[in-house]
Amino acid sequence: MNQKVTVLYFSPTGTSRTIALKIGSVLSSRWKCDWKEVDLTRPEARVKPYVFPPEELVVFAFPVYAGRVPELLLPMLSKMKGEGGMALPVCVYGNRAYEDALLEAKTLLTAGGFQVIAAGAFIGEHSLSVKLAAGRPDESDLRIAGAFAEQVAKKIESGDRSEPVVKGNLPFRERMPAGEPFRPVTTEACTGCGLCAKVCPMGIIDPEHPSRVGEGCLCCCACVKRCPVHAKRFEDPRILTLRQRLETSFMDRKEPELFV
Ligand SMILES: Cc1cc2nc3c(=O)[nH]c(=O)nc-3n(C[C@H](O)[C@H](O)[C@H](O)COP(=O)(O)O)c2cc1C
Ligand code: SF4
Ligand code: SF4
Repeated sequence: MNQKVTVLYFSPTGTSRTIALKIGSVLSSRWKCDWKEVDLTRPEARVKPYVFPPEELVVFAFPVYAGRVPELLLPMLSKMKGEGGMALPVCVYGNRAYEDALLEAKTLLTAGGFQVIAAGAFIGEHSLSVKLAAGRPDESDLRIAGAFAEQVAKKIESGDRSEPVVKGNLPFRERMPAGEPFRPVTTEACTGCGLCAKVCPMGIIDPEHPSRVGEGCLCCCACVKRCPVHAKRFEDPRILTLRQRLETSFMDRKEPELFV
């Protein structure tokens, strides 16, 4: 196979990255080819217009935000070009629902000149919780991701380039209306290490004064989950109520869904 693999992901808390890397590593070891990893999580990585040659298979993984592709990725995706190469969109959601996110990704990639060859919806620990889908993706999810990659590889090797039918509805569900901005609080436990500023996908945490957080917070919880001393958290009642609702209604384990 003269196929190359690029694994592209946006992944503030790392669950989309874990699935993407598993798929990328299985594909590249099967095809004995190199693979590239492109991390779109930091703002500077989303500026460049990415263009992929036809021999490149692009695995694109992202978290589901309110049943959609995160809105902040749209400018970058609108500039990304596929030149007829294949793409494999993968959404990772927090055990509630992925609604139109995967169909939206497929639509955006197709518009960018990719041939969508397969798609998958996986489950990751919910950004806003440590209980909902705790520890996922787990061993079972990774086994499924590996088997999925093998199945996609076989489809490609057989010369089958058919598009999968992916779950989702048109028109896509409404995005959340913008309200009062969210902002995590920083407790006295903060040591000033600056890690939260480095991992924030919006670049809005002041590295010199990490308790200063600008506007544009996604509530992605990268800062909350990565802080080594648990000094960042959300105290906003909207988040606390949502977390409570999620942890009450969506605890039953969901399983990955694959479209090949
Ligand atoms: C703003 C926001 C909206 C989210 N919306 C959904 C959703 O609609 N359905 C769902 O199941 N999970 C939702 N999640 C959870 C994430 O999709 C999930 O935790 C994912 O694994 C995070 O990916 P990451 O680790 O790559 O950041 C949301 C998370 C955030 C921060
Ligand atoms: S990661 Fe935590 S300890 Fe480090 S600067 Fe941020 S809030 Fe403070
Ligand atoms: S400040 Fe907001 S956008 Fe930045 S890492 Fe924290 S939760 Fe994510």
